[in-house]
Amino acid sequence: MNRRNFIRLAGGGTIAAASGSTLVGCGAVGGHYPAEAVEAWNGPVGETDVRRRAVAYAITAPNPHNLQPWLVDLRERDVITLRTDRERVLPHTDPQGRQILIGHGAFLELLVMALAQQGVASDVLLWPQGELPSALAAWDDRPVARITLKPGGTPDPLFAQVLLRRTPKTDFDTSRAVAPELLAQLLGGAQANAQVGAQASAPLNMGGTVHPDQLPALRTLCWESAKVELLTPRTMMESIHLTRVGPGEILQHRDGISLNSPFVRAVSALGMFDRSAPPAEGSAAYKSAMGRFEGHSRTAMGFVWITGPNTRNDQVHTGRRYVRQQLQATALGVGMHPMSQALQEFAEMAPHYERVHQLVLGRPAPRSASDPTVQMFCRIGYPQGEVPATPRRPLAKMLLT
Ligand SMILES: Cc1cc2nc3c(=O)[nH]c(=O)nc-3n(C[C@H](O)[C@H](O)[C@H](O)COP(=O)(O)O)c2cc1C
Repeated sequence: MNRRNFIRLAGGGTIAAASGSTLVGCGAVGGHYPAEAVEAWNGPVGETDVRRRAVAYAITAPNPHNLQPWLVDLRERDVITLRTDRERVLPHTDPQGRQILIGHGAFLELLVMALAQQGVASDVLLWPQGELPSALAAWDDRPVARITLKPGGTPDPLFAQVLLRRTPKTDFDTSRAVAPELLAQLLGGAQANAQVGAQASAPLNMGGTVHPDQLPALRTLCWESAKVELLTPRTMMESIHLTRVGPGEILQHRDGISLNSPFVRAVSALGMFDRSAPPAEGSAAYKSAMGRFEGHSRTAMGFVWITGPNTRNDQVHTGRRYVRQQLQATALGVGMHPMSQALQEFAEMAPHYERVHQLVLGRPAPRSASDPTVQMFCRIGYPQGEVPATPRRPLAKMLLT
């Protein structure tokens, strides 16, 4: 179904927007982006250095709000040291930096795969100078990982999917169910894929459902939790500050939530998208953001999740598993889209945090890092059209050489 929003223009007439072309989201939504902003998806063109080539693949990793919070130090020979760019975190929706570290895990996994593809094996040492503190506000410059290169490295079949992977932030086709067999392949393949290297020791579990009886409660959870994020001024503003509208802003930033549809550009040009305050109830921006989350929730044709304890190591390992699962989904031709709102650890979200743990794990929300925690929660289904690749900043901006 192609739901359309209409906006009455000042001089008369209307503009229409498909529901994918909305005002606030979690990455790139609608339209195609300037070629330079998405050049990362061509792979490491013209790069000959093994480490730089590997990093060029790793920066395509999925990451919260497409902040790309990676600082990569190449100054030591045969070593890659990964740190967090502390300007690129989400204090309101991710106060413990848990999601940011999942994004680091995804980066590490692609880095290891891209090294292996070039015949280079890697030893990944997490927290070589100790773990980052539990509160984001106390984070310092200590590295997340030190990767030492050595001869070897076996190419990974999933590597073929790296540059094809997309996160579909659009309504799914409700006329196409996801077959239980496909879910089994997605979970089985990802579980088997996880039995490699250091990850095998991480006590994480992958689960999911496409059962029609289970979907309504999970869809409702997505929608109810999204409303909390959208209606809590400080969490809504966190997204608004990261929103880039039109080719100029997208090219300038090459990160965040990129919006490039004619509808959004027109709304912005008309001054109807005020980025200094949360959208007023009933405004075009408000209805648009609400409609988008409602559509995503309603069209979820299944769900997958990753659960396990919640130490800093578990968070990084979750990211490694998550990107492998999304690469597996890419190979299987099914869309996989995180709906992270219910997992966010801010006070107003607490009832939904409790509910997601009850629905997925049948137990209360965790009280400590050793308690089972829902780390990733994603809807699955078939996108109705092509899903665009999201921008990435130039490689050089993330490198210390
Ligand atoms: C830990 C984590 C949480 C995420 N949560 C959401 C989410 O709640 N909603 C969403 O639209 N995308 C979410 N994403 C996906 C990112 O927005 C997406 O990876 C990013 O915009 C880059 O797009 P790409 O994956 O297509 O390259 C999440 C990704 C990660 C790693």
